[in-house]
Formats: sequence, structure tokens, C-alpha cells
Amino acid sequence: MLPIPLQRDFSLRNFNTFGVDARALAYLEVTDADILAAVRRDSALSALPRLVLGGGSNLLLTRDFPGLVLHMRNRGIAIAGEDADYVYVRAAAGESWHGLVEWTLAQGLGGLENLALIPGSVGAAPIQNIGAYGVELKDRFHQALAYDFLTGERMTLDTLACAFAYRDSVFKQTLRNRAVVLEVTLALPRRWQANCRYADVAQALEASGITDPTPREIADAVIAIRRRKLPDPAVTGNAGSFFKNPLVSAQRYQELALLWPQLTGYVQPDGSYKLAAGWLIDQCGWKGRQLGAAGVYEKQALVLVNRGGASGQEIAELAKAIQADVEARFGVRLEPEPVYI
Ligand code: EPU
Repeated sequence: MLPIPLQRDFSLRNFNTFGVDARALAYLEVTDADILAAVRRDSALSALPRLVLGGGSNLLLTRDFPGLVLHMRNRGIAIAGEDADYVYVRAAAGESWHGLVEWTLAQGLGGLENLALIPGSVGAAPIQNIGAYGVELKDRFHQALAYDFLTGERMTLDTLACAFAYRDSVFKQTLRNRAVVLEVTLALPRRWQANCRYADVAQALEASGITDPTPREIADAVIAIRRRKLPDPAVTGNAGSFFKNPLVSAQRYQELALLWPQLTGYVQPDGSYKLAAGWLIDQCGWKGRQLGAAGVYEKQALVLVNRGGASGQEIAELAKAIQADVEARFGVRLEPEPVYI
């Protein structure tokens, strides 16, 4: 017997930030890890395909999901410990990410301010190693507690075990469909230093006359930039950046820069270059355009939006058309950030 009722033929419209109306065969709210153990013991439920859902902000539902949606809804944020270098903050997977950022700031703890206002849940943050304005989750990560559907055991993963990379982790690779993140512990530095290297952040602070910013002031600058550039999912359905910024070799970058002097790219520690996908899409003339009810946001070409009633298929078709144009013009393949169902 499951400890809470299972819902059948359940609409996911309110649980994905694109606002796509797709249905799940079965849906369960996971308020506690014991529910996952009960699912694993149930022979009918454990045979179904599973989709673990957090804030639904990195998800494109192109069809109804013929399986079990596990919606992480466990709660709780607390200081888990401290040492000479760090304060450790533990948060349940079902907490909102931005809620956690605000909680740490209210405690006077810096470290997460560059990651303010990122939509989604705490549990989803390590899956794609969320990042913004010069900081990635991996820079503040200590460990994650996960439930392993294969063994039925809980496992603790440190930064190395998570194999974080740009918008990637072990949870998208070998632990895909296996591990469910239950809680995340972050390590916030006692000797906090501002990170204002990202040009947008530096300019926003300068414009406000702030020379020696506090974590709160950086968070406010980041929040203002995000509000200006990115659509609010509560108003306009979207999933943030729809494509990853593609990585190319130094040689390929030089070739492209010769042809396109305005090309925007950033050198990486290994000498490769990360190209601004938004620029590539913008150059192809897609900004502000629409295919059916799916559109390209007029202020940021990397963001696809639901103009009202778009299906996941429509959004996927728009993405495909953009990929084809960028590939034809620049010879670069764009890879979607959201998980397609
Ligand atoms: N650009 C254009 N045209 C556009 C959009 C961008 O020319 O329509 C150019 C900008 O002028 C800028 C460059 O592209 O020179 C980069 O743009 P921006 O600073 O907006 O950042 P991004 O590379 O588009 C990435 C992340 C965002 C993150 C910001 C800030 C990815 C895929 N996206 O966007 O993350 O907030 O940097 O750090 O890495 C997300 O992943 O959902 C997300 C929003």
C-alpha cells in the first residue's frame, strides 16, 4: 500500500514552466523518501517509466507521459554544520532554488547571490549543474543525498562523484533513471568574496554607484538583470536558455571569427571556446519570430516561449528549425538544454 494516493491521467500543465498541457499516466507527490521505497516495492508501479519532476523548468513535454511522475515536494532548509572555512546549508529537493538563495541571504550568508532567481527546485540544481553570472552550482556544492532505485539504498555523492560539467552531471549520465536527489548540502565560504566578473553584473553595480558590494547587492543586481532579459515563467511559458552555449575548438573559433568579426565567444580553461548561442540564433534572424504558438523571445534569442496554447511538439519544431539554420550558417550544432519527453 502506498502511503499517499496515486493520481491517474494527471495534467502536468501547472507543473512545467512552458505551461504545456500534457498528461501523466500516474502522478505521486513525494513528500518523503519512504514514498520512493514504497514505489520500488510495488511491482506494478516500479515497472513503469519514471519521470522525476522538480520545478518543471527544464522540461519539454512533447507528448503525454506513459509512466509515473514523481513530484519532489519534500521541504526543509537548515544549517547542517560549520568549520573554519565554510557554513554548510542543507536543503530538501522540493524547496524552491530561489527560496533557498533568499534564505541564505537572510542569514547573512554569501555565496549563492549570483544564482538568484533561477527558476526550479533545489533537487534539480545539481542535475544540470545550474549556473549564471560566473558561478555554477558545483562551485558551492558540498554533497547530495539521493535515493537509488536500483539498490533501494540512500547514497551520498560528493562533488567528484557528481562529475559536474557545463549543464551536466552524473545524474544525467550513469545515474539517469536511477538516482533521485533527496537533499543537497552547499558549502558557503566564510571568507566571502564578490564575483562581479560578468560584464552585465559589473555594469549594473557601477550604474548604482556600488563599488564594494554585499551579497544582497549582487543578488539584487542579478535579479534586475534577469527580470530585464528573461521572461517570467508565471506570465510567459519558457524554460530559460533553450540551448547550451556550444563549445568549439580554438581553431574553429578563429575560422568563424574571421568570417564573423562580431562573433561572441569566451575562452575556456582548456583552450576551447564557448560560443554565445543567443548571438548565433540572433544572427539567423530568429529573435522575436514565431512558428505557430511557439516563439523566440524578443529580448533574448536563446529563450523559446509559449505564446499561448503551444504544444510541446510545436516548441520542438521551432527548436529544430533554429538548429537547422544555425548549423547551415555557422556549421555549429546547438544542443537543447531541457529534457525532452
Ligand atoms: N546575445 C545576442 N543576442 C541575443 C542574446 C544574446 O547577441 O538575442 C549575445 C549577448 O549580447 C551576449 C552573449 O550573447 O554578448 C551572451 O548573452 P547573455 O549574457 O544573455 O548570456 P547567455 O550566454 O545567453 C548564459 C546562460 C544563462 C545565464 C547567463 C548569465 C547558458 C545556456 N545560458 O546565457 O542561463 O543566466 O549566461 O550567466 O549557458 C539557463 O541556463 O537557463 C540560463 C538562463
